[in-house]
Amino acid sequence: MSGHGTALPMTAHSSGPLRGVAEVPGDKSISHRALILGALSVGETRITGLLEGQDVLDTARAMRAFGAEVTQRGPGAWSVHGVGVGGFAEPESVIDCGNSGTSVRLIMGAMATTDITATFTGDASLNKRPMGRVTDPLALFGAQAYGRRGGRLPLTLIGAGQPVPVRYTLPMPSAQVKSAVLLAGLNAPGETVVIEHEPTRDHTERMLRGFGAAVAVEDTGEGRIITLTGQPELRGQSVAVPRDPSSAAFPVCAALMVPGSDILVPGVSQNPTRNGIYLTLQEMGADLVMENPRDEGGEPVADLRVRYSALRRIEVPPERAASMIDEYPILAALAATAEGQTVMRGIKELRVKESDRIDAMARGLEACGVQIAETEDSLTVQGMAQVPGGATVRTHLDHRIAMSFLCLGLASRAAISVDDASPIATSFPVFEGLMRALGAQITRAAD
Ligand code: S3P
Repeated sequence: MSGHGTALPMTAHSSGPLRGVAEVPGDKSISHRALILGALSVGETRITGLLEGQDVLDTARAMRAFGAEVTQRGPGAWSVHGVGVGGFAEPESVIDCGNSGTSVRLIMGAMATTDITATFTGDASLNKRPMGRVTDPLALFGAQAYGRRGGRLPLTLIGAGQPVPVRYTLPMPSAQVKSAVLLAGLNAPGETVVIEHEPTRDHTERMLRGFGAAVAVEDTGEGRIITLTGQPELRGQSVAVPRDPSSAAFPVCAALMVPGSDILVPGVSQNPTRNGIYLTLQEMGADLVMENPRDEGGEPVADLRVRYSALRRIEVPPERAASMIDEYPILAALAATAEGQTVMRGIKELRVKESDRIDAMARGLEACGVQIAETEDSLTVQGMAQVPGGATVRTHLDHRIAMSFLCLGLASRAAISVDDASPIATSFPVFEGLMRALGAQITRAAD
């Protein structure tokens, strides 16, 4: 079942070589942050390349509810007139964040140190996910949260009227939690400090600086120490959003699976906190070249040229997990087509994503005839010459599970169906058309 509408079953059939240029949409993480920081700034923020997926549209709608003026000017081109740090108005109704953990967690942080109250909800997937990881540190600023058992949504957050700054060590590697604390620190006096033992995506830190905040980052034996000076005046900026490396991973891995493929994915972010999948693919023997590396809007980007390659197994180093946390589902699918046994360890965060991704991938791969083994924090996949396929996989409202199995179906003996492809619209609304244009045989039930 999809979040709010009817399920959209989809099927991927064994396909000929994938060829052409795949222009994947803007980065989801950066798109959310551009809207939120724009809303917390004085003056106008102009954004190009914004991902117009449902998750980001939910953030845009929420920013309007908190008082910012958010307008679409053209495809991917948006303008935000912000209300300034501490200027959020109290929303008149419930903030529905749909499927998006990033929306709800970052926005809770952004409002937690303003004297307003807001109630958040989401779809069946989001309402199962843990929010205590964000509301616990927000309570240290003086905010109060009243949610369902385990801190789950729907949840009401009462912002702190007189916030105090916080020093917080992340108990798990999470850029969403780190970002929530930093955004809350914006409207607290003095210095808010976040310490992370494993570096997670750093878009919030980079962008806060770009909007005029003082953010110091120190790498120490204790981990990365990020210090934000509170109550800055953020000023509207121009933000060019690079293409999403997590979305790019789907056509890239599909091309690696389908013999004869040769594709180009231009302008993809190669931020070192996000590029773990590409290092992993190269270590597996992928013919993957980063062409024309350059800097765009403060992020390193490159054009990815990828050709079908016979891949070998890998043991993914656990310390790489944070830099490819969203790519394990597609890596698990790809590993089923590689030679030998691929082992992914240190991935228990996957259990609290849009679905329990270890379980969803394990069950789906088994249904497709692939041998797997799982523990609480690992997944092992036995590669085979050709995956049998011939199954319908449950996607549990998870866009990345749906896309992973649709990619695997292009290279398996019998077609692979997914019960519901509608969540793909949250992060990669053009996936179906883009893959078909490359030559992928992807059909809907009615086709
Ligand atoms: C995100 C951080 C990651 C990632 C999610 C987007 C972000 O989650 O899985 O898709 O934009 O900060 P965690 O920070 O919870 O690991």
